[in-house]
Amino acid sequence: MASIPLLDLQGQYRPLRDELLAAIARVCDSQHFIGGPEVDAFEREMAALVGVPHAVGLSSGTDALLVALMALGVGAGDLVLTTPFTFFATAGAPHNVGAKVVFADIDPDTFNISTEAIAAAIKPSTRAIIPVDLFGQMAPIEAIMDAAGDIPVIEDAAQAIGARRKIDGKWVMAGEAATIGTLSFFPSKNLGGYGDGGMVVTQSDEIATRIRRLRVHGGMKTYYHEEVGYNSRLDALQAAVLSAKMVNLAMWSAARRKNAAYYNAAFADLDDVRTPTVDPANESIYNQYTLRVAKRDGLQGHLRDKEIGSAVYYPLSLHLQPCFEYLGYKRGAFPESERATQEVISLPVYPELKQSQLDEVIDAVRSFYGR
Ligand SMILES: Cc1ncc(COP(=O)(O)O)c(C=O)c1O
Repeated sequence: MASIPLLDLQGQYRPLRDELLAAIARVCDSQHFIGGPEVDAFEREMAALVGVPHAVGLSSGTDALLVALMALGVGAGDLVLTTPFTFFATAGAPHNVGAKVVFADIDPDTFNISTEAIAAAIKPSTRAIIPVDLFGQMAPIEAIMDAAGDIPVIEDAAQAIGARRKIDGKWVMAGEAATIGTLSFFPSKNLGGYGDGGMVVTQSDEIATRIRRLRVHGGMKTYYHEEVGYNSRLDALQAAVLSAKMVNLAMWSAARRKNAAYYNAAFADLDDVRTPTVDPANESIYNQYTLRVAKRDGLQGHLRDKEIGSAVYYPLSLHLQPCFEYLGYKRGAFPESERATQEVISLPVYPELKQSQLDEVIDAVRSFYGR
């Protein structure tokens, strides 16, 4: 029995080592670390992948959310609607621009925000809606855009780079159809950098121009500032690494889907385990392979004993976080999100997993349930 981590970045790095080190050396040799040709090239590649005219490199997925909200003029007194079952940044960003965060419960099948719950929660002062493409599967963006009407939609696609959804017979990429899409290149994402990184994608010339300005202290001409922005740029080293890795993205995501399908078949007869539900319109990139299980904490302990990595994304619904107590939500406000926090567990699904490792994970899960 060998230990199996939840994610094996070494396994991804080893075969690409020469190309990656060459990309890093290229930037070092140029001594051009901020902006420049590497960032421009990567932005063009990502815009082409997502199918949008504009991709703006940023310092993280968190900053992507922040500048997206700023570019839409969202601030004090505004309401921003989002899911309570997501990584913290999705709700931290609207808080940090001074808006009030309003949550709407999730669809228990996909874990993504429920369109019906959005429709019921929209108020006259709702200024933005942030659905999240959780675990690599797109939220139903066309239905959400319909429910939103004139309210801008920021699709938090941090976990869904390269995911797609068939809408009216046509594939739409994660981030493509929303007012603004936000991406993260955190190392554990399907396209991960060697440090922090993020991006905004949009169809809008106006929004892209504003975000390009916001990422350099609100001014396009050095030392002249139309507004107050941030230092939120993607750096050239990250862009070079990400460009070098990007050619493998489709292959990696396909391998994750294959691993997920293998697990699904192996767990199909277990009453205590519910395998991930992917909306038939979606092609997931399985940033996580997340089960709903009985006796979750017991299973996690059992996997730990067998040196198999697992994680609980997420153990506490955001409306119950101490920092959001001021919003006034009580336990029971979002039953599906709360139930998910008690039942979910994510297993290793990375593309480099060997057959024997997949089988080891399967045996460990099955043995916990006495099978
Ligand atoms: C759904 C979601 N939103 C936002 C973020 C923030 O991205 P970053 O870590 O690049 O700031 C992440 C990931 O970390 C995420 O998973």
